[in-house]
Amino acid sequence: MEQTKFLLDESEIPRRWYNVRADMPSAPQPVLHPGTGEPVGPDDLAPLFPMALILQEVSEEPEIAIPDEILDLYTLWRPTPLYRARRLEQAAGTRSRIFYKYEGVSPPGSHKPNTAVAQAFYNKKEGRTRLSTETGAGQWGSALAFACKLLGLECKVYMVRISYDQKPFRRSMIQTWGAEIVASPSEDTQCGRAILEQFPDTPGSLGIAISEAVEDAAGRDDTSYSLGSVLNHVLLHQTVIGQEALAQMEMARAFPDVVIGCVGGGSNFAGLAFPFLREKIAGRDIDLLACEPAACPTLTRGLFAYDFGDTSKLTPLVPMHTLGHDFVPAPIHAGGLRYHGVAPLISQLVIDGLIRADAYLQSDVFTAAVLFAGSEGIIPAPESAHAIHGALEVAREADEAGEERTILFNLSGHGHFDMAAYDNYFAGKLEDVALDEEEIERALHAIEGLPAPA
Ligand SMILES: Cc1ncc(COP(=O)(O)O)c(C=O)c1O
Repeated sequence: MEQTKFLLDESEIPRRWYNVRADMPSAPQPVLHPGTGEPVGPDDLAPLFPMALILQEVSEEPEIAIPDEILDLYTLWRPTPLYRARRLEQAAGTRSRIFYKYEGVSPPGSHKPNTAVAQAFYNKKEGRTRLSTETGAGQWGSALAFACKLLGLECKVYMVRISYDQKPFRRSMIQTWGAEIVASPSEDTQCGRAILEQFPDTPGSLGIAISEAVEDAAGRDDTSYSLGSVLNHVLLHQTVIGQEALAQMEMARAFPDVVIGCVGGGSNFAGLAFPFLREKIAGRDIDLLACEPAACPTLTRGLFAYDFGDTSKLTPLVPMHTLGHDFVPAPIHAGGLRYHGVAPLISQLVIDGLIRADAYLQSDVFTAAVLFAGSEGIIPAPESAHAIHGALEVAREADEAGEERTILFNLSGHGHFDMAAYDNYFAGKLEDVALDEEEIERALHAIEGLPAPA
């Protein structure tokens, strides 16, 4: 019998996070203070983040040791399984081999706790007692609520309005882990009230919810802001995924030609891909593919520019691919991918030609999700289904070229709280939104006058 699952022992959980900055051919450009245009220093970030995370944000060390307390928390769900998707290969009729790393086995159901427990740990160590954050689909909000509960911190979650309405049970989950949750934009912050006054019916966006969570943290000494993606330290924490996958692919006596992940802010993609990128930089031939929604095509159609990370311009200026900080993506069901920007590390690596990106329509993504559920059994999160569609596209192209590929993708989460989206798909009610050029041009007006990357 051919093996399906490749499992590591708890003793094989990686002891270090991998920092891609140490190996990048071009250093990422600095984050700038919007007032002075100068690079921000650790002191500028201190009101929002604990110093340990700020130091990880700017670190150029290739590896950073994972504290024992965090490793102990990781044992609740790590190591995660790697699967050979033989049944999916058969259903798709491909000659290629498809593997996936499954992060949905964590208690909240996605990769997000890999950084949530680390962030909660360092905040607690430096005396903060409360964290504020945004959430799109609710995966990040539930991961941080879970981490705060385990570590005894308070947590306030600003959840993007459209997901708050579409995913009521993610809300209940966040409450079960003891966090306070409110729909964003909310009446609880100045920027939330200002946006509601101008756009009372807005579906919200991650950019708006980030503004609210940052305002919340900046106004209270006991509170830090916590971000579930985009920042260097968040991507760093996720590299446990790729390190485990390297060992598991070796168990399967295989090595991927293509490594694939969906991209919202970029953390699950980076988590799987960066340890393989290290191999690529060392000379191995690997194609790294980032998959995004056509409704929010940041990497494929955005501009590489300095922009704010949030809608109300409270964050520093970040060098990244962006659609403009006031861009409100259409209310597609992959709520976690509705972000106007992307991680600066990924942006730089796309510019340098080490990572490529592709964008997909949500009906194609759900077709792939249903094929996957029907063959592998797991019902994927709509975000993760972008990676499944990407993997099937790569397999199809290889078949058409008469080639065989070994494909590895990140199944970043399950979709058990996304069944309303599946309902809409089965009822034929999913709208395919491909953004027109005029809307992109309009949204990019928001960054006029900001400094340009070198
Ligand atoms: C299951 C899942 N995958 C992917 C993402 C996208 O985030 P990132 O690009 O940071 O991995 C999210 C975000 O909410 C998510 O919930």
